[in-house]
Amino acid sequence: MARVLIIGAGGVGNVVAKKCAQNHTVFTDILLASRTKSKCDAIVAEIRSSARTAAATIATAQVDADNVPELAALIRAYKPHLVLNVALPYQDLTIMDACLETGVHYLDTANYEPRDVAKFEYSWQWAYQKRFEDKGLMALLGCGFDPGVTNVFTAWMHKHCLENAFALDIVDCNAGNHGKAFATNFNPEINIREITQNGRYWQDGQWVETQPLEIHRPVDYPGVGPRESYLLYHEELESLVKHFPKIRHARFWMTFGPEYIKHLTVLKNVGMTRIDPVDFQGHKVIPLEFLKALLPEPSSLGSGYTGKTCIGVQLHGTKAGSEATHFVYNVCDHAECWQEVQAQAVSYTTGVPAMIGAALMLTGVWKGAGVFNVEQLDPDPFMAALNTWGLPWQELADVQLVPLTAEL
Ligand SMILES: NC(=O)c1ccc[n+]([C@@H]2O[C@H](COP(=O)([O-])OP(=O)(O)OC[C@H]3O[C@@H](n4cnc5c(N)ncnc54)[C@H](OP(=O)(O)O)[C@@H]3O)[C@@H](O)[C@H]2O)c1
Repeated sequence: MARVLIIGAGGVGNVVAKKCAQNHTVFTDILLASRTKSKCDAIVAEIRSSARTAAATIATAQVDADNVPELAALIRAYKPHLVLNVALPYQDLTIMDACLETGVHYLDTANYEPRDVAKFEYSWQWAYQKRFEDKGLMALLGCGFDPGVTNVFTAWMHKHCLENAFALDIVDCNAGNHGKAFATNFNPEINIREITQNGRYWQDGQWVETQPLEIHRPVDYPGVGPRESYLLYHEELESLVKHFPKIRHARFWMTFGPEYIKHLTVLKNVGMTRIDPVDFQGHKVIPLEFLKALLPEPSSLGSGYTGKTCIGVQLHGTKAGSEATHFVYNVCDHAECWQEVQAQAVSYTTGVPAMIGAALMLTGVWKGAGVFNVEQLDPDPFMAALNTWGLPWQELADVQLVPLTAEL
C-alpha cells in the first residue's frame, strides 16, 4: 500500500503517471499535480479509458512547485509516502525542502540548476545529505535514463563484468523522426541550456573543457546504425567519477542531426538562446523563455514519431587479468511508446526508470537515509525491472563503439 505524489504533467509526467497506474499493486494511490491542472486531467482521462490502467486510483491537483508552503500544504493534505518530481530542475530544491518539512521520501530525474546561470551540478542537492539522513528520509537523484539507467548499467558492469574498470563512455542516440523542422525531445529550455554549454570530459582524473559540440565522431549504434555523436558534459559523469574513483576517463556522447545543429547554430547566433533579460517595448523578455513558448511541447511530439533510440554504456577495464570492454544498452521504438502510453521514446525512457526507482523505494528493496545517486544502490533489482516494465536491455562483450584512444 503506497501513496505517491507525482509533480509535473509534461512529456515525462505523462509516462510516469501511466506506468505507476499500470503498477497499481505498488502504487495503490496516485496524485498527479502540476502548474496546469488541465494537463493532469487530460492524462488521467486517458488512464481511466485504458483497460490496462482503469483499475488505478488516481486524482489530480494544481500546485506551484516553486512555492514551499503550497507544496507542504498539498503533501500534508494528501499524505504521500514519496514525492516523484518530474517538473523542471528549477523546482528540485523547493520540492526537497517541502519533503523535509513534511517527512516524505523524494525522487527526481534531473539535477538542480539555477534559472539565471546555465549550470547544473550536484553540489546543491548533495548539500541536503545530513538533513535527509537526520530525518531518516531517502532522496534519490537522477533516476531517469541518463542520468538513471546509465548509472545502473555502470554499477551492474562493475558488479558482474569487470574487475578494474577505468574508462567509461556513455552513448545516447535518438535516430527518430518527429517530422518537425526543429523541436526538442524534452523541455526546450532545459535542453537548449544543456547543449549550448561548453563540453567537458574526465581525463586522467581531471575535467577537460571543450567548446560546445566541438568534438564529434561517428558511433555505430546497435539496432540503429552509424550516427554522428557529439561530446557533451552530462550530469551523471560527476556522480559516477565520484562513486567509482578508479574511473580515469569518462565521456558522454549524444547524436544530433544536421537540421538540429543548423537551427541551433542560427538561434544561438541571433541571440535567441540567451537567458538574460532583454528590454523589448518596455517589457523584460528572456529570449530562451520566449523561444520555448514557440517550440512544440515534448508531450506533443509522440503521434507519428518513427524510429528508435539506443542509449548505452561502454565500460573498459580488466577481466581475469586481461583488458576487456563491455557494452550494455537499450533500444526503444518511438511508435511502440506512442501505442502504449501516447508518448515519444525520450519521455518513455525517462518515465519508466523513475517509476521503477520509486517502486523499489516504496517496497523497501532500495532503502537508506540521506541523498543517493542511483549507482550507490544494488543494480540487480533495477535491471530485472527494466525487462519487466518495457525497457529490455542487452549486453555485448568485447565490442568497442567508441575507441579508447579516440583523437579528442
Ligand atoms: N534523466 C533523464 O533521462 C531525463 C530525460 C529527459 C527529461 N528529464 C527531465 O524530466 C523533467 C521533465 O521533462 P519533460 O520533458 O516532461 O518537460 P515538460 O514537458 O516541459 O514538462 C514539465 C512539466 O513541469 C511542470 N512545471 C514547470 N514548472 C512548474 C512549477 N513551478 N510548478 C508545478 N509544475 C511545474 C510543467 O507545467 P506546465 O505544463 O504548466 O508548463 C510541465 O507539466 C525535466 O526536469 C527534464 O530535465 C530527464
